Amino acid sequence: MKNLFDISGKVAVVTGGSRGIGAMIARGFVENGVKTYICSRHTDQAEQTAAALSEYGTCIAFQADLSIVEGIEKFVSEIASREEKIDVLVNNAGAVWAAPIDEFPESGWDKVMDINVKSVFFLTQKFLPLLRASDMARIINIASVDGQSVPGFETYSYSASKAAVIHMTRVLAKRLAQDNILVNAIAPGAFPSDMTKVVL
Ligand SMILES: NC(=O)c1ccc[n+]([C@@H]2O[C@H](COP(=O)([O-])OP(=O)(O)OC[C@H]3O[C@@H](n4cnc5c(N)ncnc54)[C@H](OP(=O)(O)O)[C@@H]3O)[C@@H](O)[C@H]2O)c1
Repeated sequence: MKNLFDISGKVAVVTGGSRGIGAMIARGFVENGVKTYICSRHTDQAEQTAAALSEYGTCIAFQADLSIVEGIEKFVSEIASREEKIDVLVNNAGAVWAAPIDEFPESGWDKVMDINVKSVFFLTQKFLPLLRASDMARIINIASVDGQSVPGFETYSYSASKAAVIHMTRVLAKRLAQDNILVNAIAPGAFPSDMTKVVL
């Protein structure tokens, strides 16, 4: 019982772990003995976070643009060159766009869908060989309450993206149970971060 929640020695990947929720999740892993990889588009912030978290254990940062499959493949191959397996994949990286309905641009739709939905699927797909090599693989998708209830802001693509993540989590969970990979989603409520500083 004492070691029921012991995760020391595991390997985790937290996308968008450079700040906000991802950095908090990464800190929780690092403090509990998990070798933790984080990434973001901006190298400086990811490296600063990794350096700060390395005070508690092992945290390694990479630059990656996960909104395109090429960026996902590069990130996955960097991890694969260092690790034989990963135990936890946290699909956290995300973006929001708010605009009045009459002005909402295609760019605000595509940007949000690419990182919030497309990347969750392709990161999962490309990490499968490393996840299958673990004896306790877990995928945790960071959704949002905005995917479950109608938000107060005009964030059309964001709400649709998070509803998509919630349902895709169910679909992936059913398929990947065969591979002993447990897939879950978390739907946080609003809290202060770079993402919400415009709207809150
Ligand atoms: N804050 C909230 O109230 C709230 C509530 C519910 C759910 N969530 C969800 O929680 C997750 C984290 O949100 P947060 O509030 O912590 O946001 P945040 O502070 O803006 O952090 C987002 C992270 O994702 C990274 N990222 C964004 N686009 C990326 C891309 N194309 N490729 C790689 N990394 C990328 C960012 O780094 P770069 O910009 O350097 O790439 C950053 O590390 C998101 O999925 C969000 O939807 C947040």
